[in-house]
Amino acid sequence: MKVRLSQSFFFLVFTTLVAPLQATDTFKEEQTMFGRAVRASQNFCYQVMAKTFWDPLMSGFKPGRGIAINELDIKPNDRVLFVGEGTGLDFEVLPENINKKNLQAFDFSPEMVKQAKLKARQFDIPEENIFIGDAQHLPFKDEKFDKIYFPLSLASIPNPTLALQETERVLEKKGRVVIMEKLIDDGHQPSYLRQLLNFFTKFIFADINRNLTQMLGEGSSFKIINYQSLEGKLSGFFARRIGASYRIATLVRINDYPEIEAQGAKLIQKAKTD
Ligand SMILES: C[S@@+](CC[C@H](N)C(=O)[O-])C[C@H]1O[C@@H](n2cnc3c(N)ncnc32)[C@H](O)[C@@H]1O
Repeated sequence: MKVRLSQSFFFLVFTTLVAPLQATDTFKEEQTMFGRAVRASQNFCYQVMAKTFWDPLMSGFKPGRGIAINELDIKPNDRVLFVGEGTGLDFEVLPENINKKNLQAFDFSPEMVKQAKLKARQFDIPEENIFIGDAQHLPFKDEKFDKIYFPLSLASIPNPTLALQETERVLEKKGRVVIMEKLIDDGHQPSYLRQLLNFFTKFIFADINRNLTQMLGEGSSFKIINYQSLEGKLSGFFARRIGASYRIATLVRINDYPEIEAQGAKLIQKAKTD
C-alpha cells in the first residue's frame, strides 16, 4: 500500500512538474491536459492584461518595435500581416509611406483585438483588417503576404512550428518574416532557475525558453539571415532590465535568396577595435 502511494505521488509530481518541462521540446503540449490548462490560463491573463496594464507595461519596447519594423523593409504597396498583434502597439511605429489598407493584424485574444481596433482608428488602418485568429491555422490562400511580423507573439503560440509552417505557406515569393521575441540562442541551455520560472510564466504569458532553430524544425524552407539582441536598445524601467533576453530575427526562404548567408539563431560577436 505504502509503495503504491509513493508511486502515485511520484507519478503526479512527474506529470505536473517534470514532463511539461520536457514537452516544450516537441511543441505538442496543446494536445495534453497540461497544455490545455496552460492555454486557458494564458488566454484569461491576456484578456485581463489587455484591458488593464498591457500598454503601459510594454511601452519600453517601442524602440525594439521600430527596429523590427525597419527590418521588415515595408515597401509602399507591400501586403503585410502582423501575427499576435495584441493591442496594436506596433501601429505607432509604422512608416508613413505604406498603404495601410494592405495591413492586416490578428490576435487570439478577443480583448486584445478590441483594443487594437481602437488603435487602428487612430492610425487610419481599416478596422475590419484587425480580427480574431489563430496563427496555427491562417485563413488565407497561399503566398498572400509580402511581409509577416511576429511582435512578441511566437513564444505564446502553443505550437510555434505549426505557426511558422503556416507563415511559409502564406508568404509571397521573395517575402520576408521578422520575429521579435525572448529567445534562447543556438548552443545555449536555459538555466535550471529559468526552466523553473518557465513553468509559471507559461500560465501567465509565454514560454520563455524557446529556440528559433528548434521552432523552425528540420524541414523548414526558411533560413535566419539576421539575428540581433535588444540589449541596451529598449527604454523604461521594465523593458531595459529584460532587453538582453530579447532578439530580432529576420527570415527568408532559402531558395528565394541563395546568395544571402544563413546566420542561424546566434549572435555575431563584434571584434573589439581597441
Ligand atoms: C506577449 S503578447 C504580445 C502582444 C503584442 N504583440 C505586443 O507586442 O504587445 C502575445 C500575444 O500573442 C497572442 N497569441 C497567443 N497565441 C496565439 C495564436 N495561436 N494566434 C494568434 N495570437 C496568439 C496572445 O493573445 C497575445 O496577445
